[in-house]
Amino acid sequence: MALKKHAIPLCLVAALALGTTTSAFAAKQEDPTPIDQILTKAIKVDNIYNDIKYLSKKPRVSGTKEEDKAVKYIEKKFESFGLKTEVQPFEFEKYFGASEVSFTVGEEEIPSNALDYTANGNVTAELVYVGLGKAEDLEGVDLTGKIALIQRGDITFAEKLANAVEKGAEAAVIFNRQGAGDDDAPFGGTLGGAENGVAPIIGISYNAGMDLVEQLEAGESVTATVHVDGSEVRTVTSHNVIATKPAKSDAPETDQIVIIGAHHDSVEGAPGANDDASGTATTLELARVMAKMPTDTEIRFITFGAEEDGLVGSYEYVDSLSEDEQKSIVAMFQLDMVGSRDAGDLIMYTVDGNPNNVTKYGGDAAERLDYDVPYGQESRSDHVPFYEAGIPAALFIHSPSEPWYHSPEDTIDKISKEKLKQVASIVGAAAYNIAEPNTPALPMKAKVKAKSKKNVEIHRLHVDKPTK
Ligand code: BES
Ligand code: ZN
Repeated sequence: MALKKHAIPLCLVAALALGTTTSAFAAKQEDPTPIDQILTKAIKVDNIYNDIKYLSKKPRVSGTKEEDKAVKYIEKKFESFGLKTEVQPFEFEKYFGASEVSFTVGEEEIPSNALDYTANGNVTAELVYVGLGKAEDLEGVDLTGKIALIQRGDITFAEKLANAVEKGAEAAVIFNRQGAGDDDAPFGGTLGGAENGVAPIIGISYNAGMDLVEQLEAGESVTATVHVDGSEVRTVTSHNVIATKPAKSDAPETDQIVIIGAHHDSVEGAPGANDDASGTATTLELARVMAKMPTDTEIRFITFGAEEDGLVGSYEYVDSLSEDEQKSIVAMFQLDMVGSRDAGDLIMYTVDGNPNNVTKYGGDAAERLDYDVPYGQESRSDHVPFYEAGIPAALFIHSPSEPWYHSPEDTIDKISKEKLKQVASIVGAAAYNIAEPNTPALPMKAKVKAKSKKNVEIHRLHVDKPTK
């Protein structure tokens, strides 16, 4: 959708630069305000695009030197805009998946996946088929020094492994259920926690499993090797980067804070151009554009680390705030996956599905800029810890997600400058509308009337790894 073109009155440009604008547009606007226009014009989408390009050369997995490099880049950029910038380091326990996994039977290697939280090891032993590996399947069975061959189903992988190990097994091989995915492909899953990794455990395909069962049931003895290495939990350090634009104008300050945020980390193997270099780079550009604009409200631009590990950075940040600070935050705009050419339309997600300050100002700004942005319900990003602290927060994302989500294909060539520009303009206009001088202070939890339609469809492309 094209933006409506309006001339910007020169006197307003001058007034804005001098920090003397008053909010002449407090009433509901159907069209872009002059300030919307100034902001939209000031946003240089090439800056966003180039930052995504730089950030997405390699995956930025939290706790790695690639994350450190991204953090330094973001910090330098914020500082170059004249913003006071703080890097907030934090430690957490991070799981690293196995770097080596193999399953060999005789001369043949059978494709396999290590389950998350598996123990490492190199076990060569006889295979014993024990059905579903439930307690009753194992009654009177001695697995001492053996590898248990178990079918997926009924109970968790962790329970199957615990049952087999209790009977003396040194490793477990789980084969898939028929039709639970590709019958020829190994599956992946998780034990759910490091405490369950009592022996090496891998997943193989249904067909590979059935071949082995047939051999065993025909009375053959099958010796196999399960090899797993590199699976470990390590304490790592990740970081949040926080740039603060203080309230500064001729108007009285509001004591309120607006946050624009994104996560700078990505998952293993994914360059994360859209998830979430797009949000990070958009946050940087909004910081550049707004750094010198007059506001009666403080704006914080934040990029979070370790989002992909369970929103660790944003929880750390919210926990680090005093109660007073938490109370002062009237809006948190989270930008996550905001530039894919292959994703759907822009939507604002709140954790509870209800409208709040963010969806109200976001929806109004979108309308002024001639877009229609609905809201819906979704968690899965850094707006969650803010919501849990009672702070009005929403996730800006395009839905449905692109097929490249969390994959090596999440690269710069799939980024749409038009989408970036759209999100930057809407979020910029909305955030500035709250922060600009002489706007009335916002309530913490705004009782706003639903303006836009609730998006009923929630698209879930990514499901967490199965535990059974
Ligand atoms: N950007 C995604 C969240 C997302 C993707 C929301 C697609 C809606 C549609 C985010 O980086 C992510 O992957 N989050 C994790 C959850 C988090 C708590 C570890 C996820 O969804 O698996
Ligand atoms: Zn993300």
